[in-house]
Amino acid sequence: MTKKYPTLNPDKYMEGWDNLYKKQVEGQLDKLSPHFVHYAPLEFSFFTHDQDVTGKKALDLATGDGIDACYLAQLGYHVTAIDILQSAVELTKKRAKALKIEEKMDILCETIENLVLEPESYDVILAIQCLQYLYDNALSKLYELLDSVKQGGFFLFGGNVKPHFRTEPPIRFITMTEIKQALKGWKIFSIAKEVRLVSPKDRRGYIWVVAQKPEKQ
Ligand SMILES: C[S@@+](CC[C@H](N)C(=O)[O-])C[C@H]1O[C@@H](n2cnc3c(N)ncnc32)[C@H](O)[C@@H]1O
Repeated sequence: MTKKYPTLNPDKYMEGWDNLYKKQVEGQLDKLSPHFVHYAPLEFSFFTHDQDVTGKKALDLATGDGIDACYLAQLGYHVTAIDILQSAVELTKKRAKALKIEEKMDILCETIENLVLEPESYDVILAIQCLQYLYDNALSKLYELLDSVKQGGFFLFGGNVKPHFRTEPPIRFITMTEIKQALKGWKIFSIAKEVRLVSPKDRRGYIWVVAQKPEKQ
């Protein structure tokens, strides 16, 4: 059977996100707060509001509805936002236009796998609800991303862990132990795990981290 979307993800996931984004491309924009405030309610204000970020660069992987990417651009970062779905790209462009921040953003239809990452090139990298969809490449991409954060820069990660409904192929969850190991030596501002009741039959584990890369001594 041929796949509609060029990713290992089952088409039904991709189709779900695609339809969600298309609705907003054609209709009203959701005006939600950035998703990552849920992961970093306190630390969020620490690294954003109090600093002059002119000239600083942020990368939002799998930007989806673009809310996080546009928020960072509003704060003054130059943001590269990528997603595999054209609908996500169109939605993010629509949002950027409505907020008059288009010149602060590069919004690209690109897969995380194909993204060329230079070492120490971003001040902030957001990888929220996306690395797990790289399956066997999830962990190696995590290390590549950490390498691309500048000294003193921030990494925000969010992902699922067990409990989670079964998927085919099985999602490659990045565990708390793995993320702690990868962030050895970093300053951790927030790290947590919780189980959310998404619906009566759907209990889902979430983990998130906000961390800052140390300056070299
Ligand atoms: C659960 S949504 C998360 C979106 C956003 N980061 C957020 O936190 O709301 C997952 C997103 O990952 C994108 N995606 C999945 N696999 C991808 C890949 N290999 N490369 C780029 N984007 C991908 C999907 O198109 C979708 O927009």
